[in-house]
Amino acid sequence: MTHSNAVNTLLQQLTLAEKATLCSGADFWHVPGIERLQLPAIMLTDGPHGVRKLANKASEAGLSGSVPATCFPTASGLAATWNCALTRAIGVALGQECQAEQVSVLLGPGINIKRNPLGGRNFEYFSEDPYLAGALACAWIGGVQSQGVGTSLKHFAVNNHESGRMVVDAIVDERTLREIYLPAFEICVKQEQPWTIMCSYNKLNGTYLSEHAGLLSDILCTEWGFKGLVVSDWGAVNDRVLGLKNGLQLEMPSSGTINTQRIIDAVECGELSLAELDGSVAKVLTLSLRAQAEAQTRDGFDLEAHHALARQAAEEVCVLLKNDGPLLPLQTDQSVAVLGALAVDTRYQGSGSSQINPTRLEQPLAEIQRLSRQHPVHFAAGYNLHDDQDDSLIAEAVAIAVTADRVVLIAGLPPEYESEGFDRQNLQLPAAQLRLIEALAPVHHKLIIVLQNGAPVDLPFADRVPALIEAYLGGQAGASALANILYGQANPSGKLAETFPLALADIPSQPWFPGLLRQSQYREGIWVGYRYFDSAQVAVRFPFGHGLSYTRFDYSDLQVSHELSSTGQPTVRVTFTLTNSGDRHGAEVAQLYVGQLHSSVYRPAKELQGFTKVELDPGAHTRVSLELPQQAFAFWSVEQHDWVVENDTFSLSIGASVADIRLQQTLELTSGQAIGVANPALRPYALPAQRRFDDAAFSALLGHPIPLPVPTQPYQLNSTIVEVRHHWLGRLLQRRVAQQVAKLIGPNASAKDKMVMEAMFFDMPLRNMLTMSQGNINQKTLNRLIHLLNGNWLQALRGSAVLNR
Ligand code: BGC
Repeated sequence: MTHSNAVNTLLQQLTLAEKATLCSGADFWHVPGIERLQLPAIMLTDGPHGVRKLANKASEAGLSGSVPATCFPTASGLAATWNCALTRAIGVALGQECQAEQVSVLLGPGINIKRNPLGGRNFEYFSEDPYLAGALACAWIGGVQSQGVGTSLKHFAVNNHESGRMVVDAIVDERTLREIYLPAFEICVKQEQPWTIMCSYNKLNGTYLSEHAGLLSDILCTEWGFKGLVVSDWGAVNDRVLGLKNGLQLEMPSSGTINTQRIIDAVECGELSLAELDGSVAKVLTLSLRAQAEAQTRDGFDLEAHHALARQAAEEVCVLLKNDGPLLPLQTDQSVAVLGALAVDTRYQGSGSSQINPTRLEQPLAEIQRLSRQHPVHFAAGYNLHDDQDDSLIAEAVAIAVTADRVVLIAGLPPEYESEGFDRQNLQLPAAQLRLIEALAPVHHKLIIVLQNGAPVDLPFADRVPALIEAYLGGQAGASALANILYGQANPSGKLAETFPLALADIPSQPWFPGLLRQSQYREGIWVGYRYFDSAQVAVRFPFGHGLSYTRFDYSDLQVSHELSSTGQPTVRVTFTLTNSGDRHGAEVAQLYVGQLHSSVYRPAKELQGFTKVELDPGAHTRVSLELPQQAFAFWSVEQHDWVVENDTFSLSIGASVADIRLQQTLELTSGQAIGVANPALRPYALPAQRRFDDAAFSALLGHPIPLPVPTQPYQLNSTIVEVRHHWLGRLLQRRVAQQVAKLIGPNASAKDKMVMEAMFFDMPLRNMLTMSQGNINQKTLNRLIHLLNGNWLQALRGSAVLNR
């Protein structure tokens, strides 16, 4: 029987109550089954950099205590590999680990755009560029799903920071949405059909994503042809029935019986039609049956092979930012001093829902020692990871550094600096590390700084230090990978998938980032990341796409031709020769950028529209060929509500980074529309260097006045604990929630885990107390509490309805 026949048969057999039950989780991690119909419950788990299946409490929330799983580099690092084949191989390995653990859907990848480097969860996202994010996420999804395990593309959409993430309203104009925040999702849906997509917590232009018909139904399903199921982010449901009507099929986690009853009532009173409910249930059934059909009985997985894959990935993650001298690679006859607490307590993964329990963990010091055969490696911590100032640590580090031939300092962000649940405060490295770097001035000429962090940091010392490596959060084998890079056993090939700015103030979104708890205005429009820096010609520390190698690559013989694709579509073929003109085997990421010269709308000077990673032996060369579909030349027209290509001259730039263009040619396109007329009200956006994105400009961009944010008071169902704690009753509530968190994470939880969990829970809207308390708090009690917070004693007595916005 095909899935669709089986689904129809099941639909006929299910009672209304059973159908309603299927629309919410059975617990924290399972989609319910129906025993009498032999429909199994299936498990979903995080994700995305390893399998995070909670070992002993598979039905509960929690950060630690998951089963051992291979920890791969996090997405920001993986993106720096620009390697789709490698990313797919990681997907395959993750799929195998899921099968071994009977996990049916892995909750990832996260592909939100890095609007600002302070976003707390940037380590978990790929890039500031949607084309790159989309390409890598496709590879990841394809790999996982090839193993019969589903994925959950997240967080759909415009979830670009953590502060107030469960209630914030992202105010974004139509074109920016289409060109920056949606394309990565669109690419993945169209190319890979993820089994599920996870709607985000936030609102978009006034509507919660969990009930956003425009995104969940019109764009996702009707326009892009999504066939899978939409699941809520954990606790993202606002109005369950509205969600069902508008395209959210599955609520996670369980709401107890609250929303199940709400669905039954809605059908019985005609608010929700049976056909609407059946449509959603059919999708849940399809997912469960597919998972059941593709489940394998796998006895574990190849730990060694997955560790080796994690190492290969971590090597390709490393971005050689700078190598004057060249100081690197290290020679085995050189004496080396290794400094930094992170050398023995490595930072290798992020915090929050992606935190996993690695099968093993290497440390940089031990791995460097392993390769420095002739000399013992001297080590000093140099700083305290938790940033307490300690001058004796600095003195000790300087003392061993002066006697060594080379000094390797492992610096970076401690885990409590970047996590799901909160945003970073600034770009700085911890003060204790900065002081150490200053104190190392006498040895700067032989200093190599390695960075372990999930997102760009300020590098005020970059001009004074000859060698810098961005190692990102490299996963469990990051340390041996780093040692291989340092000693030249692997040749660095990573390239930045995000811009490293000179200063935070240079980021266009910074004046409005993250904005108010309840409203974030995306005033900068499309001017995100390199699109802004490159077009406005603002200097950066390290540009998008940058990364050096121990060898050299030359680009030559660019040829551009018009062709028809296999489906008869006009395309442009770009070919050029890439030569390894150095003396080592290495890999180069060649990037193809497109720009339009006289467009009617303002456009970035260059946009990434193609790339390839090529491995070459010394002296070898190859002909690289990239194909550009029409879409590569298009912008989103707000007038036509569609993609438009104008008949114009376009620049094609091939480069080793967005700022290192090696070959360039122009191209005339005649297959599109005549160039339109510019909208004068949008002139400030055509001059990004001026950054005059004031009220008038932004409302012109939106096409309507800037909406007012939902006021903090009166308190309502969607007020968060952070908001109500201004009231004594709110503080009481916060204390109670803190106690619950403590119970959840257990007495042995680290201070960092406590901090992360509290941040996540304090950001929760009050409405979630109904579902999270599993029925212990009912609607009337919650209404009463909210009336009391508002000082409405009479209404509190009655328990009458409260606002929900
Ligand atoms: C996160 C998701 C995650 C889910 C389950 C949410 O808080 O935003 O990314 O998959 O929890 O842990």
